[in-house]
Amino acid sequence: MEDIKNIAVLVSGGGTNLQALINAEKDGRLKSGRVTLVLSSNPEAYALSRAKENKIETCIVDRKLFSDRTEYSRALLKELNSRKIDLIILAGFMYILDSNFIKHYKNAIINIHPALIPSFCGDGFYGVRVHEAALDYGVKLTGATAHFVNEVTDGGPIILQKAVEVKEGDTPEILQRRVMEQAEWEILPLAAELFCAGRLSIEDRTVRISKNNQT
Ligand code: GAR
Repeated sequence: MEDIKNIAVLVSGGGTNLQALINAEKDGRLKSGRVTLVLSSNPEAYALSRAKENKIETCIVDRKLFSDRTEYSRALLKELNSRKIDLIILAGFMYILDSNFIKHYKNAIINIHPALIPSFCGDGFYGVRVHEAALDYGVKLTGATAHFVNEVTDGGPIILQKAVEVKEGDTPEILQRRVMEQAEWEILPLAAELFCAGRLSIEDRTVRISKNNQT
């Protein structure tokens, strides 16, 4: 019998990347894993409604109720460890996890970042701010990166990247939407499938993708 991996998706907001994972599961692009838990840092996150609509278990660990990162990371770990989770996906999760958390799920946490790392990344670069910075700099190409999470913010080994054109007259919001549509919603489900199918390995800091034996 095939070993289907359990995925926990950590969210803080709208959850369009969560939706992309759910859609990929429905249409068979994500077949080696399934989203079994959506954990939100924000009780108001619309992502929670998306999870409920799709009958996925939800859990709220409200960041506002914790004084520091260590305490918060510990509370997250407690929730995740009480379930059998093989892969954690940060899909618009707006908080940095502590080193204890990252060690616990070493090479089993994937983040989606809305730029071509190492551009426009690191502390302070999240959400629409990333696109503001790209437009301020005047880049003609931007994109998205799916990467493993390590102790350095946005610094873990890169799994997949996709470039997206910046167009004349773009606002940060217009660019954000294009990057989501053309890059994030495509590469995040693909990275999840590659992980769950056991096709990713890390050598030094380079991610190797092995061939799919079934095709
Ligand atoms: C996405 O663009 C994601 O790449 C970004 O936040 C947005 C969340 O949207 N994440 C970061 O900036 C993390 N550094 P969503 O809730 O609709 O998926």
